[in-house]
Amino acid sequence: MRDPKQPTTIIDHGDGDEPRCNASANADFASVLQARMSRRAVLKGGLGASLAALFAPLTPAFAYGTTQASASLLGFAPVPASAADRVTVPTGYRVQVLAPWGTPLSGTDVPFDPIRTSGADQAALVGSHHDGMHFFPIEGTDPYQGSSDDGLLVMNHEYVEPRFMHASAVGRALTRSAVPLDANGKRAADEVLKELNGHGVSVLRIRRNADGVWNVVADPRNRRITGLTPMILSGPVRGDDKVKTKYSPDGTMTRGTLNNCAHGVTPWNTYLTCEENWAGYFVNRGERPREHARYGVATKTARYGWDLADSGADEFIRFDAGAKAADATQDYRNEPNTFGWVVEIDPFDPNGVPVKRTHLGRFAHEGVIFHAPVEGKPVVCYSGDDARDEYIYKFVSAQPYHQASASGALLDEGTLYVARFNADGTGDWLPLKWGHGPLVPQPVNQGEEPDCDCFKSQADVLLNTRLAADKLGATRMDRPEWGAIDPHTGLVYFTLTNNTSRKTADAANPRANSRWGHIIRWREAGNDPAATRFEWDIFLLAGPSGDSRFAGKPLTAEQIFNSPDGLWFDPDGRLWIQTDTSESVMNAGDYAQFGNNQMLAADPARSDLRRFLVGPLGQEITGVITTPDRRTMFVNIQHPGASTSAEDFAAGRLTGTWPNQGRYPRSATVVITREDGGIIGA
Ligand code: FEO
Ligand code: CA
Ligand code: CA
Ligand code: CA
Repeated sequence: MRDPKQPTTIIDHGDGDEPRCNASANADFASVLQARMSRRAVLKGGLGASLAALFAPLTPAFAYGTTQASASLLGFAPVPASAADRVTVPTGYRVQVLAPWGTPLSGTDVPFDPIRTSGADQAALVGSHHDGMHFFPIEGTDPYQGSSDDGLLVMNHEYVEPRFMHASAVGRALTRSAVPLDANGKRAADEVLKELNGHGVSVLRIRRNADGVWNVVADPRNRRITGLTPMILSGPVRGDDKVKTKYSPDGTMTRGTLNNCAHGVTPWNTYLTCEENWAGYFVNRGERPREHARYGVATKTARYGWDLADSGADEFIRFDAGAKAADATQDYRNEPNTFGWVVEIDPFDPNGVPVKRTHLGRFAHEGVIFHAPVEGKPVVCYSGDDARDEYIYKFVSAQPYHQASASGALLDEGTLYVARFNADGTGDWLPLKWGHGPLVPQPVNQGEEPDCDCFKSQADVLLNTRLAADKLGATRMDRPEWGAIDPHTGLVYFTLTNNTSRKTADAANPRANSRWGHIIRWREAGNDPAATRFEWDIFLLAGPSGDSRFAGKPLTAEQIFNSPDGLWFDPDGRLWIQTDTSESVMNAGDYAQFGNNQMLAADPARSDLRRFLVGPLGQEITGVITTPDRRTMFVNIQHPGASTSAEDFAAGRLTGTWPNQGRYPRSATVVITREDGGIIGA
């Protein structure tokens, strides 16, 4: 029975993580594929023939199995799909839990009581919902070279699950997304503080001891960056009228980073954290400007209701982005405009102020992936906008890379492009450059705000990146997630996790209502990362055996998966693929065959693909990195136990309690090693 009081005592945004906000008429990926398949006149042959054509390599560079070396990069025995509440790895591998939510930064072994920890305490503890991460070898200057025993583990904390955090939630029928309100419809300020401090980034010194066990150890660089940490705005949007707030009347600062999903690692050894589903954290109950509406800023209640904190403190009420005062420097109408960016953090400088690099665009950033730098050439990176029907972007720096002087300033000047995938297998990078093409300052009446059809500056283009990309005719994609670059071929791979809002059923792409996801890849023209043209194909079509393809064949029982999300090439060329089946469907219906979320490894050159790891109940697998010697791998387990129903939560029956049997589940990192000390995956 539903508690009749619930509707007035909770906020519950459900699975609204990736709202569909694209109202443009731009072509979507399905119709591009349709056109492409039609040109090849294969549709008459039905599904099998169309899939065969889909996977026909476009050019020799895209072929499967062309490398002549005999042995696969993959040497492990694949693990079966599983719905057990544990982490499963291949025979001969070990798993250790490291740095679960609530671990003290001091590295001391203090028991963590999730519901009795205060909001202030959470600021000195590892955050929740571990996501993208990197291992920075200690005292290093190169993010992939140096110690394999000692380093700074830097990780994102994407969001929180309030029912597992607060005493006020115990015994109540709360879903994973529900937030408890008090009798007056307010939120306890300390609960709000705890949730803000559960978000952000952790910097943790970790070290392997003589027994091969990894521990968090005390270090002055250990640090939490949270939803409250002061941050600098840099790049073209810095100082723009649209980012002026009561907190920063000159528009140069903001507080906090939120919904940090995947990450990036710069060639100059800093960490980038990406703001993904930030829009729903804000509410604007009045008329939403385009900077709010095109991103899905909420209209009734914010995702966690932080604006409803009973203290009324400034750092909480800013999540109400309605215009309330005479001008923007006296309220928080512009607060959402200071989110949706990529944030640079120097993990080796504990006093460094994080910098929001606005030239990388404003959208639901999943992650950032860089081409290997070349001395004297521009720096090039990619970022996907993970929402239904959104786009893939590329940034090319204006200034060349020089190892001796490279810094984040390279990201403040350059050109942001958006991808158009043409039906003939070519693609174009369309510049989001103010004054070019349709991105021009149309005449507007003096004192009037521009409408959605014009842009008055480069800052305006970046604040409204999605609208500018709409204007250029970018290709609407099936939720772009992580990217990865093959160290041997330079091909760029991107996961397209799923898109259940796609309506168009077409024979070429059998995924109208795309439930399983793809992996796409492309090669820049002339193998020049800065090129404005590319060639693309589909690397893999995920799904059950009967509805999937890899290297021309359906996936086997040892390979099936859906909703690819995390993606990383290790230095040997193994492609690690992580899955994010929604907890609303996992282990049920025709999703049951996939089991819990998992990680696979692929050897693209030899057409090999094997399931490597299966996580516990209710979670997603996200974030993967190895030490430079590739003999220790770190993987994040996010939101274990999230599939617990509201009724079961009220009754104290948890679906999944990993990693602490019988207690509240906690996100954590797992450390994977081989019993024989070998390279992971080999
Ligand atoms: Fe936070 Fe797109 O996954
Ligand atoms: Ca993700
Ligand atoms: Ca995802
Ligand atoms: Ca998830």
